[in-house]
Amino acid sequence: MKILHTAAEFFPYIKVGGLSDMLASLSKYQSKNNEVHIALPLLESIRPELKFLKTEIPCIADELRYNTDACKVLEKSKFRKVKHGKINLYFFDSPLFSRYDKIYGNTDELYSFAIFSYACYYLGIHLDVDVVHSHDWHTSLVSVINNTRYPGKPTVFTIHNLAFQGDHPFWMTSFLRTDPFHIPLESIANYEKVNYMKGALQYTQEITTVSRGYRDEILHEPQGLFLSWILNQRIDSFTGIMNGVDEKEWNPKSDKKIYKNYTLKTVEKGKRENKEALYKEFGLPVDPERPLIGMVSRLTHQKGFETFLNAFLARWNLPFFYFILGTGDKELEGRFFHESHFSNHRLFFYKGFDETLARKIEAASDFFLMPSLFEPCGLNQMYSQVYGTVPIVSRVGGLKDSVREDPDLNFSTGLVFEPGQDHSLAFALDRASTLYYNKDGLHKVRSNIMNLDWSWKNSEMEYHRIYEKAISKKLI
Ligand code: ADP
Ligand code: GLC
Repeated sequence: MKILHTAAEFFPYIKVGGLSDMLASLSKYQSKNNEVHIALPLLESIRPELKFLKTEIPCIADELRYNTDACKVLEKSKFRKVKHGKINLYFFDSPLFSRYDKIYGNTDELYSFAIFSYACYYLGIHLDVDVVHSHDWHTSLVSVINNTRYPGKPTVFTIHNLAFQGDHPFWMTSFLRTDPFHIPLESIANYEKVNYMKGALQYTQEITTVSRGYRDEILHEPQGLFLSWILNQRIDSFTGIMNGVDEKEWNPKSDKKIYKNYTLKTVEKGKRENKEALYKEFGLPVDPERPLIGMVSRLTHQKGFETFLNAFLARWNLPFFYFILGTGDKELEGRFFHESHFSNHRLFFYKGFDETLARKIEAASDFFLMPSLFEPCGLNQMYSQVYGTVPIVSRVGGLKDSVREDPDLNFSTGLVFEPGQDHSLAFALDRASTLYYNKDGLHKVRSNIMNLDWSWKNSEMEYHRIYEKAISKKLI
């Protein structure tokens, strides 16, 4: 099958969160048996890393070139091809994105992503793909254009995070009424606002999201964030498919970024060595006998750190040491810095985005904490399991689908608590402490989690089935 993905992130070139890893690992798996193409925006910061091939593809048909500002900017833009393993990447080289030093949060992103989406539509036609698979609101208009313009390709749209919908007042998007778009704005509006994501949910042949648990949650308010009504309308075309993990990329046996490699057989020693090396690198005078809880995350409301901070204070007496890597919300950064300075070596906070450090933390930690208030899938709980790090997660979305706590440790793959409930997390920390000092029990849980299969094998097959469904619907 000939597949075109369209997205704003792709590992290793553009990474803000899990979408980047998800697309890189899914497409790698798909490229074994399919022809895979991916359209991405080109930021100046990544240009030096890219080895462009000669192929350059226009972003708009000749006859439309001069009609509007949007047409003119598309005329000035082009796709430039880069080979990534068996995958073909097409970077959207455009004056719109070359002004940006980061991918999200730019003032005119509604305009830039709409233009990029048109270019993606055109690329799909040019490459004559079988299906176009778009991810999140940034390229959701690709699904709209393919189903409101002629010719159009079958589309699949994946929700990675419903919290970002690309919604805004009508006046900001009047350009969408004219060339080259001609989008009926009323049909993509939701509650008096133009809403890019609603557009995709309305028009695409198939909708997916990144876990079954999250799918079921967002069919209801308040988790549906005012889009549950349309998800219910389209329920027969709406599937939850759990993300997978690239087992070559995330593997404690071969990961070159961690201090010491290890396997299930050597996990105790391996973790101990990684822990000591981590403390040494950061000059932390912490007893390695104490259990270490790692956290790596965007610092946003979604991730539930308020709950953590309250439980942390409530369980001051527990022996844990916390190592936190993250950046984002300034107030949360401030609170972590405060605890880091004044907690007398109970917590260490490193502000930043650091892929290597993230892996070192995974390898060194005994537990990995994800207190999310909502979590469409979450990747770190699965990475943790692969690294023999026991996840402690809130019972939401993909976290509840991938972590099971059972009184019989033979069946436990982590610890689970109720989202947003300080006391529930505090009790989970009590249980984690007990587990840490039960050496046989801890080894049992580690062996359960290191033996889990998070490969893309099953999920890739599900995507394939959805693509076939989308293709057959478009033919009707
Ligand atoms: P989300 O996409 O909502 O951020 P996920 O759990 O799906 O959540 O994926 C987050 C990814 O981003 C993980 O690979 C995680 O390690 C990585 N990540 C998040 N924050 C940082 C950071 N500060 N430094 C390094 N990696 C980070
Ligand atoms: C989003 C979600 C996260 C998910 C990721 C990849 O960023 O917040 O839960 O794992 O997308 O699908």
